[in-house]
Amino acid sequence: MKGVRRISVLGLMVSLTVILVWGSRWLDAKEKKKVNVVMKKKLKYAQAALKAVARQDFGEISGAAASLTALSHQGDWQVVKHEQYLTYSNDFRRAVAAMSTAAKSKNIDGAALGYVQMTLSCVNCHKWIREVRKTE
Ligand code: HEC
Repeated sequence: MKGVRRISVLGLMVSLTVILVWGSRWLDAKEKKKVNVVMKKKLKYAQAALKAVARQDFGEISGAAASLTALSHQGDWQVVKHEQYLTYSNDFRRAVAAMSTAAKSKNIDGAALGYVQMTLSCVNCHKWIREVRKTE
């Protein structure tokens, strides 16, 4: 009788562990998917900004800039909880704002410069993330 009880307790523990492990995996995958959606949108809006800068479409530059800024404030953007990540996010927003301000005053050179600064901020943040991952 005692042996049977021990086996059932063990069985319960094993199933709980399995449920917990699978549960957290599932959450991870779900979270990753949400982050991926944001990152893909970011690329889409950045490409829209390039197209608008190349065509000197000031309205579209402002539109793309507004979408990029809004995206950078979304929860799923804040995937990395680190002060440095906030700094890179602010660099990104500042560059997008410069692009937008220039577009509003119909300054194509300023908008192009803002676009380039934004692109550099993409590369800088990704570079830092790769470094952090390496040391994890
Ligand atoms: C403040 C940091 C930061 C900035 C700025 C940033 N990104 Fe990202 N990006 C991330 C993070 C975090 C990920 C997810 C990386 C991961 O999980 O491996 C990511 C992922 C991506 C991905 C998906 C990569 C893949 O392997 O599928 C693309 C595409 C992307 N970013 C494009 C851009 C573009 C374009 C810009 C600039 C317009 C930009 N990012 C600016 C942080 C940033």
